Order: sequence, then structure tokens, then C-alpha cells
Amino acid sequence: MLVSSTITEEILDLKRDRKAILLAHHYQEGEIQDLADAVGDSLELSRKAREFAGDVIAFCGVWFMAETAKVLNPERIVIVPDREAGCSLVDACPVEQLRAWKRRHPGHVVVSYINTSVEVKAESDILCTSSNAVDVVNSIPPEQPILFLPDLNLGNYVRRLTGRTNMKIWQGSCIVHATFPARRLTQAKLEHPGALVASHPECPEEVLRISDFVGSTSAIIKWAVGHEAREFIIMTESGVNHSLARLAPEKRFNFIANEQCNCSECPYMKRNSLEKLRDALRDLSPRVEPAPELMERARLSVDRMLALR
Ligand code: 13P
Ligand code: SF4
Repeated sequence: MLVSSTITEEILDLKRDRKAILLAHHYQEGEIQDLADAVGDSLELSRKAREFAGDVIAFCGVWFMAETAKVLNPERIVIVPDREAGCSLVDACPVEQLRAWKRRHPGHVVVSYINTSVEVKAESDILCTSSNAVDVVNSIPPEQPILFLPDLNLGNYVRRLTGRTNMKIWQGSCIVHATFPARRLTQAKLEHPGALVASHPECPEEVLRISDFVGSTSAIIKWAVGHEAREFIIMTESGVNHSLARLAPEKRFNFIANEQCNCSECPYMKRNSLEKLRDALRDLSPRVEPAPELMERARLSVDRMLALR
């Protein structure tokens, strides 16, 4: 018997058969977000992954996020639709270079952004995400010197908010946010007088300084939806527009094109598709499987962060 089924039905059938949960980051295509059990920022999705008791975590995001899910819940099978869904920040900090940096700066606490490889997490003392980086740094005694990596813009933002002078910052950047030019934002403010600006902390300092709000993807969505203003300029990946438009259809959200692609899309996040998600659920591959010993060491830094709040 020939049964016609849409790709959405195929995914939902496979999800049920595999006892899987679908986790999607805000930067995924809307059609993926609509199928997900949870959509969130990197911190929220890590917490969701940790508490999942089924068999398979299908992580619709980038590889480092799925690695974190596996570290937090190693008994589960963790899959990602596309093996090449990477991140420029992960690439900016190879573990051998981090080891050399640590050797040059003994006695420093290593604070790593979650956008790092599992090898780098294993070399770190504590992790942070865009939503808790200030709290994580503030949890470290003021006299204790810090190595912060790998995002230069997030590091500078944290240093500015915490007043921390004993913090060295790695020079990595996000190819999407770091190439949002402040002059394009200034132009957009002229074109949309009265619009408020919400930015992700990976944006350049000149952008952050003229923003009304700085926060993670989920924090930006929550702030803009809850604010009484009617128009906003959103300085992050355009995938967040899916939730913004659904939660506040009466408001206007403008996005700025960056200098990398003249768009506001993350090329790594956008590698995932419904077809690849279906195939991954069917084949249980690409699968995230770091060495158990590596995961154990990485878990210490992730757990220290999650214990904070
Ligand atoms: P969030 O912490 O807001 O999920 O951001 C992750 C990210 O990769 C931003 O580019
Ligand atoms: Fe990495 Fe930037 Fe893409 Fe986020 S938006 S996953 S930091 S490349």
C-alpha cells in the first residue's frame, strides 16, 4: 500500500518511534522551530537537554550546542541534522592554542563561552553563555585574574559591565554579529525614528554602546515583546524574527544586513533543513560522540555554570 506522507509527518513519526525530543535554537528556519518540543537560547536548550529522559536528542542548532547536550546527558543518543553546522567562534580557539595561552598565564581562572569545542570546555574552569556571562564573571573573587575566551566583543562587554581589569580576552569573533557595522545601525535609526535597538553581546562595542538593550536571543525576544514600544531594530540573526512575529504580530522588527553576507543569517545554523533532520532521525547520524574521558572533564565546567542559577 502506498501511503503519501509529508516530510513533517515523517519527522513526527520518526520522533515518536525513536523516543526523541527535538530541540531548536532561535536561529533555525521557522519550519524547524515549529516542529520542535522546545525553542530557546543556548543556556535554555542546555537545561532542556540535561533533563530529557527519552532515547534521542535531535539538536537543531550547531555542533557545539549538541556536544554540550551530550556532555550533560551522556546516556542519550545526540544527533544533529548537518555535521558541518559549525561556528566561527569554535574555529577561533583551537585547544592547543588555549593550552599555550594557559601556560603563558599561570594562576588564571579560565572562563569559556559555550561557543567552544568539547576539548576547550575540558580545559576550562567554568563556562558562560550570552545570558549569564556577567553573573559568571561576578561569581569569581575580584582579585582572581581571568582568561576569557573566545569572543572579543562579549569579553569587552563583560569587562565594561563588571569593571574587571584583571581579565585577558581572546581575540575570536562571530562572523555574523561582529560584522554588523555601527554605521548601518546609525542609518537604520535615522530611517526608523523612535525604533528601539536590541543587540546580542557578540556585536561590536560601537553597536552595543548605542543599543537600548543587550542580551541573549531569548532575552531579546522577551524584552521586545514585553516592551510598550511598537518598532525595534534587532541586531542578531534573523531567525529570532520567527518568535517575534508570532508573539507580537502588531509590532515591527527591522534587521540589519552585515558585511559578511549582506544578510543577517548564520550560514552554519542555516545548513540544517527538514530533509536532513528526517534523515538524521532515520539513520541516527550524524551523531555526537566525544570520548567519555573528555566529556567528564568538560562536564565540570558546564556544571559549575549551571549550579550558579
Ligand atoms: P544565545 O546564547 O543567545 O543562544 O546565542 C548563541 C549564539 O551562537 C549567538 O550567535
Ligand atoms: Fe557561531 Fe555566530 Fe553562528 Fe552564533 S551566529 S552559531 S556565534 S557563527
